[in-house]
Amino acid sequence: MKTVLITGATSGIGFQLALDYLNQGWHVVACGRNEKLLSSLQSAYPNAETLQFDITKAAETRQAMSQMQSKPSVWIFNAGNCEYIENGHLDSELLRRVFDTNFMGLVNSIESTQDRFERGDSVVVVGSISSEVALPRAEAYGASKAAVSYLARTLQVTLKPKGIHVSVVYPGFVETPLTDKNTFDMPMIVSAEHASTAIRKGIEKRTPHIYFPSRFTSILRLIGLLPYRWQNALTAKLLKG
Ligand SMILES: NC(=O)c1ccc[n+]([C@@H]2O[C@H](COP(=O)([O-])OP(=O)(O)OC[C@H]3O[C@@H](n4cnc5c(N)ncnc54)[C@H](OP(=O)(O)O)[C@@H]3O)[C@@H](O)[C@H]2O)c1
Repeated sequence: MKTVLITGATSGIGFQLALDYLNQGWHVVACGRNEKLLSSLQSAYPNAETLQFDITKAAETRQAMSQMQSKPSVWIFNAGNCEYIENGHLDSELLRRVFDTNFMGLVNSIESTQDRFERGDSVVVVGSISSEVALPRAEAYGASKAAVSYLARTLQVTLKPKGIHVSVVYPGFVETPLTDKNTFDMPMIVSAEHASTAIRKGIEKRTPHIYFPSRFTSILRLIGLLPYRWQNALTAKLLKG
C-alpha cells in the first residue's frame, strides 16, 4: 500500500486530498492541530494514521513526526494560513504569525522528516500564485509564499541528485475555510475537489510546477512577465472589490 503524508489535512485542500487518497486505498498520514477532526478521520478510515502538532513549534513537530508508524513515498507540505494587511499598514505581529506558519512551519515540517526522504520519493510544497505577482493586501501572505516558492525551488535543485523529486503547487483561489472569510471578489475560484484532482494529477505525472485553475494562473503568470508598473495596474483591475 502506498503512503502519503499530508500536513494541514484537517481542512480545505489538505482535507480533500486526504479523503481522496484514503478512498483510493492509500495509507494516509494526516497531520493537523484539530484533534476532533483527526480522530474522526482515524475512526472512519482504517488506512488513516494521524499526527497532531503545531507546525510553528519545531520541537513539537519533531516529536510528532518521530511517532510516524509508516514510510511515506509522497510528502505533501500543505499547512498554511492567510492574513491580510489593511491599507498598507504593516503589522509586525501579523507578519510574524503568517511567516511562522507558512515559512517556518514548512521548514520545521521538512527538517523533521528529511532524513526519511528516499530516492524515488515525491516532496510536494503548497505555495500560492500570489508569490508570482504583487497582489493587493498580500504584503504578508504573498511575501511568505514567495519565500516558500524560493525554498522549494532550491530544494528541487539540491535534492535532484539524490533522486528526490520536488513539486511546487501554485493554486489560484480555492473555496476553503481560508477563503470563506474573504470579503472581496475571488475571480475563477474553484472547489477543493478541483484543487485535489489537479494536485494529485501533478504528483502522479511528477510535474515540477503545478498551477491551477489554469486560466486564472495563466493570466497572472502572463501579467508577471510585464514591467512592474503595468503589473500593478492590471492586478488592481483583476482583483477589484
Ligand atoms: N484556499 C486558497 O484559495 C489557497 C490559494 C493558494 C494557496 N493556498 C494554500 O493552500 C494551503 C491550504 O489552504 P486551505 O485553503 O486548504 O486552508 P484551510 O482550509 O484554512 O486549511 C489550513 C490547514 O493548515 C493547517 N494549519 C494551519 N496552521 C497550522 C499550524 N500552526 N500547525 C499545524 N497545522 C496548521 C490547518 O490545521 P488545523 O486547523 O488542524 O490547525 C488546516 O488543516 C495553504 O498553504 C494555503 O496557503 C490556498
